Amino acid sequence: MKYLFAGVVAALSLVLVLGENKAGDGKPKHTIAEVMAKAMKGGLCKKCASGEATEAEKKELVELFTSLSQNEPPKGDLKDWKKRTGALLDAAKKIAAGDEKAGKALGAAANCAACHKAHKG
Ligand code: HEC
Repeated sequence: MKYLFAGVVAALSLVLVLGENKAGDGKPKHTIAEVMAKAMKGGLCKKCASGEATEAEKKELVELFTSLSQNEPPKGDLKDWKKRTGALLDAAKKIAAGDEKAGKALGAAANCAACHKAHKG
């Protein structure tokens, strides 16, 4: 059991490292504007937060927020950006995994005005 756990931790760290590398490459699949149009303005994020989204929509949100966190904002501190987008991605992943309670966290993380003030050019 202990070894299994160590294996899982190792695998997760690898995923994290690979994810970091990908972010470093600066090649996110979607631009910030695309993510905003689909997930935010388009209402996908809200739908997932309120528990009305389909499995496919939940997965799409995870993908969009993955790209969001890989992008660099036009303005503001990159650390703060990673924190904000990380919270969005984290909540979206939990929802995709069936954790309905994460809807609240997603709603709180999707603070349009706060993030725009800090990072929108
Ligand atoms: C994690 C930070 C963050 C959050 C949360 C966020 N936005 Fe944005 N948004 C941005 C940034 C950064 C830009 C500027 C993108 C650019 O200039 O490339 C932007 C731009 C936009 C745009 C303009 C897109 C375009 O075509 O240039 C719209 C519309 C928008 N956001 C809507 C929303 C709405 C609605 C919400 C809340 C439900 C929201 N955003 C939440 C970061 C955020």
